[in-house]
Amino acid sequence: MSNNLRVGLIGFGTVGSGSAIIMREKQQLFFERYGINIELKKICDKSPVQRITDEGFSPEIYTNDVNALINNPEIDVIVELIGGIEPAKTFILRAIENGKHVVTANKALLAMHWDEIFSAAQRKNVMVGFEASVGGGAPVIKSIRESLVANNIQKIIGIMNGTTNYILTKMEEEAKDFSEVLKEAQRLGYAEADPTFDVEGVDTAHKLTILSSLGFGYNIKFSDIYKEGISGITLNDIHFAKELGYTIKLLAIGQNIDENGIELRVHPTLISCSHPLAQIKAAYNAFFIEGDRVGKIMLQGLGAGKYPTGSAVVADLLDIARFHGKNNSLNPVMNDAYKLKDIKDHTGRFYACFYVSDRPGVLATISGILGKRNISIASVIQKERSEKSNVPIVMLTHEAKEKDMCDAINEINALDIVFSNTKVIRIEDLTNWEN
Ligand code: HSE
Repeated sequence: MSNNLRVGLIGFGTVGSGSAIIMREKQQLFFERYGINIELKKICDKSPVQRITDEGFSPEIYTNDVNALINNPEIDVIVELIGGIEPAKTFILRAIENGKHVVTANKALLAMHWDEIFSAAQRKNVMVGFEASVGGGAPVIKSIRESLVANNIQKIIGIMNGTTNYILTKMEEEAKDFSEVLKEAQRLGYAEADPTFDVEGVDTAHKLTILSSLGFGYNIKFSDIYKEGISGITLNDIHFAKELGYTIKLLAIGQNIDENGIELRVHPTLISCSHPLAQIKAAYNAFFIEGDRVGKIMLQGLGAGKYPTGSAVVADLLDIARFHGKNNSLNPVMNDAYKLKDIKDHTGRFYACFYVSDRPGVLATISGILGKRNISIASVIQKERSEKSNVPIVMLTHEAKEKDMCDAINEINALDIVFSNTKVIRIEDLTNWEN
């Protein structure tokens, strides 16, 4: 086995440049400490060479021809950091076919084509490292796949998207407008090429697909994940939630504890301000994991950005160097069939914000419709009317069935006292995490 790992990097964007810089900066240290030489042989990017020479890399290692990496017998591992499905998928499969290991941060690709990529890797006896695909710098993949391997994982609940957490934090703390904060997140390099992936919960669902597959041991289908994004969350929702002792987070929730099947959902969620997840601010991600033997674990770290994600990419390279030439035993093998719990079978608490006429009997009408479906109200706030005749009424319910809540809201929205569609946000009661 060689302790020299020769790397070809495809994509010199935010994460690619961060990874290359870390490889260069830590090369000596890795050699001295672990006897491993990580040698960056080639960088392929569509941009002109100046982009890499500006970062102090030699022009000789630059190419804009991906074949100079994928077909190069002097390269052991391809690091794919261009993102998106194609051409990344073709590059990865061709690299595997050529017997090269792969490291990728491409959560969309893994979530959609997990089986194809890992089947190919198993056939060719190569490793696919994907620590950087979830959690940026937080080592959540390694934790689930290696450190928690003695457990049946029962719950994976987390904040898995830095952009949306940044947006919600800034809206709450600085009362800033949604689109203004999204631009800031894009400037800081957190957002996806298509930021609707962040905002509409797609990126979070990609990450939940990967973590729940690893954690629960099934080939989880991305399309099985229920998802809602944060584009409908207003400053009003954030302020009302706060007044009631809650904050709003985009949560990914995977639970394998219910006889009705595995629960997989991504949606904005009210959580108590006193819960540790409420303290996860800006671009930080956090992961609560519960295993049958270890109990509860929480990990947090910067979920996006040049160096945090680069640090995860380089960690995978070290792993590959350690296993290179031995076997590919870190590649997960999954079961195909699993039972999925339908979102309609969900039971939980809800926040509802109604915009209604300020007239006698309105509150009684709404609570009557909720009451006849057995939905009990836990708290209510109503703001005084300004010059407008409509007022917001905010209610938090006790535990109710999702289906009953949907039916009740449909009936309420059809009333002529209701000015606009009622906003409903699920509340997650996570208090037992501390026990
Ligand atoms: N767009 C992602 C985020 C990048 O905001 O978290 C890291 O996967």
